[in-house]
Amino acid sequence: MGLLSKKKKGSWVEVAELDSFRTSKEVKVGRHVYTIYKLEDGVYCTQGSCSHEYSPLVEGIVMKDKVFCEKHGSRFNIKTGEVIDYPATQNLKTYEVKVEEGKVFIKP
Ligand code: FES
Repeated sequence: MGLLSKKKKGSWVEVAELDSFRTSKEVKVGRHVYTIYKLEDGVYCTQGSCSHEYSPLVEGIVMKDKVFCEKHGSRFNIKTGEVIDYPATQNLKTYEVKVEEGKVFIKP
């Protein structure tokens, strides 16, 4: 889990040190869980669990800009949240991310 921060609607929340993870990391803001991903061209954020049966996406396999859910194999575009392979039918929610001075912020 990442740093716990209080959520203030519509504002940036610091969730992790950029150097604290290699590919993906689960972070929590209040009661909500998110997954942040370090890709070649930047850091991205989706909801924390699969839209199919809520398996943690941090346990999925990241390949380029896609994440495969380990439970049943659904694949999603990390940048857009779009479902690429079934059985999931709902896109993932995505969130804005910024990195400043080695810290990752999301806008939940
Ligand atoms: S829980 Fe992710 S594909 Fe089923």
